[in-house]
Amino acid sequence: MQVMVIGSGYVGLVAAACFAEAGHRVLGVDVDAAKVEALRGGHSPIYEPGLDELLTKYLASGTLRFSTDLKEGVAEADAAFICVGTPQSEDGSADMKYVLAVAGQIGDAMALRAKDAKPLIVVDKSTVPVGTAARVHAEIASHTDRAFEVVSNPEFLREGSAIGDFLEPDRVVIGCRSDHAERVMKALYQPFLDRSGGKWFRMDPPSAELTKYAANAMLALRISFINEIANLAESVGADVDHVKTAIGADHRIGPAFLNPGPGFGGSCFPKDLQALLKVGREHGQPMMTLSATVEANRHQKQVLLRKVKAAFGVTPGVPAPLKGRRFALWGLAFKAETDDIRESMALELIDGLVNLGAEVVVHDFAAMEAVRAKIGDRVRYARTPLEACEGADALLIATEWAQYRQADLAAVAKALKARRIFDGRNLFRPEAMEQGGWTYHSLGRRPVEGK
Ligand code: UDX
Repeated sequence: MQVMVIGSGYVGLVAAACFAEAGHRVLGVDVDAAKVEALRGGHSPIYEPGLDELLTKYLASGTLRFSTDLKEGVAEADAAFICVGTPQSEDGSADMKYVLAVAGQIGDAMALRAKDAKPLIVVDKSTVPVGTAARVHAEIASHTDRAFEVVSNPEFLREGSAIGDFLEPDRVVIGCRSDHAERVMKALYQPFLDRSGGKWFRMDPPSAELTKYAANAMLALRISFINEIANLAESVGADVDHVKTAIGADHRIGPAFLNPGPGFGGSCFPKDLQALLKVGREHGQPMMTLSATVEANRHQKQVLLRKVKAAFGVTPGVPAPLKGRRFALWGLAFKAETDDIRESMALELIDGLVNLGAEVVVHDFAAMEAVRAKIGDRVRYARTPLEACEGADALLIATEWAQYRQADLAAVAKALKARRIFDGRNLFRPEAMEQGGWTYHSLGRRPVEGK
C-alpha cells in the first residue's frame, strides 16, 4: 500500500514509522521545512522510545520519505492520513483550521490522480469533533470532482508507549461508508491486528468520532474518581491500594487505570474533555459527569501543594511563608517516558511553591529542556535526582519515572536536610518508609511521621 501521512506531530510520526514497519510505502508531509530536514536525517523532534530506530531503519531502506510537498504523494496514494493538530480554541472547541486547510490542499492535488483511479481514502486521524468527516468531505469536494472517501480512524496511542500501542492495538476503529474504504483500511492495519489479535470495528463516521472522545472522557473520569476515593481514604483511615485492588477484581471494573495521581495532564485528556463538553452544549446535552471530572482534576492538581502547606504550617495572610525553604522536585513531564509538559501538574506545583517564597530545584529524565524553555530561571535545574535533593527541606515526586522508584533512598536521606517525601505517585511502600525513619506523605494511604 502507498500511504501519505500529513502532519509530523506525535500521531503523524508514529503512524508514519509504524506503517513503514508494516511494509507499506510511506510519505510523511509537514509544512515545517526545518522539521522535514531533521526528519530526513533521522532526527525525531519528539522523544518517544523506539521511534528513532524505526525512522532510521526505513529512511535507509527508502520505504519512508519526508517532504514539505503534499502533491508529491497524491497521484499514487491509496490513503492519505490527516494527522495535523487540532489546538483548543478559546471556547474549548477543537480548532479545525489546520485540518480543513489540509483537506483543501488534498482537493487541489487530486487533479494529479488519473481519472479512473480508485477513490483516494482520506483519513481523519486527528482527534476531531463529531461531524468533521462530513466537513472534510465537503471541503475536498469543493476543490475536485475526482473520486475520494473520507474515513474516520481515531488513534488511541499513549505517549511513552506509542510505538507498542500502534503496532499492537487492542482495537482499530474505522468510520466509513463503503466496502472499498474498509478494504483499504484493513489492508493497512492487518499486519498490526495479526500481531495483537486486536478487534476490528467498522461503523459510521460520527460513531467513530464519538468513540474517541468517549474513550478519553471515560478514562479521565476513572482517574478523577480514584483520586477522590484516595483523598477520602486518607480522611477515613483507609488504604486506597486495598480498595483499588479489590474493586479492580470485579471484571466489570477491571484493574487498569486506577492509580491515584497528582491530576491527569497531557495533550489529550484536558483538551478532549473541553471539546466534548462543547459538543454537548451545542447539542443541548449537558455532560455533567465531564464537568465534574474537570473540576475534580483542577482540585487534584493542587494535592501536593496542599500537603506541603499543611506540613509546613502555611497559613493564609502571611507573606512568603515558605521563604528560606528549598524543595527538590522529581518529575516534570505529565507522566513517565515522555518529555511532554503540557498540562503537567509539576508546573502548577512549581508556581504554587515559588509564589509562597520557596526555592525549587527540579529534575526530570526527559523534560528539563521543555521546562527551561517555558519558565527559565524560576527554578534551579539539577543534573541528577540526587543533586536536586542536596540541602532541600523535602523531596516532592510528580512523575513516576522507574528510576525514581529504584532510587537509593539512603543516599537521598543523606542529601536532604530532613527525611521527608511528598509522593504524588505512590512510588514507595509506607511500611518500608516507616522502617527507614522517613516522614512520608503519599496519596490515599496513611501518612508516615518519622521520628
Ligand atoms: C491518553 C489515552 O490513554 C490515549 O488512548 C489517547 O490516545 C491519548 O490520551 P496519554 O495522554 O498519552 O494518552 O497518557 P495516559 O497514559 O493515558 O495518561 C494520561 C494522564 O492520566 C497522565 O497524566 C497520567 O499520569 C494519568 N494517569 C493515568 C493517572 O493519574 N492514573 C492512572 O491510573 C493512569
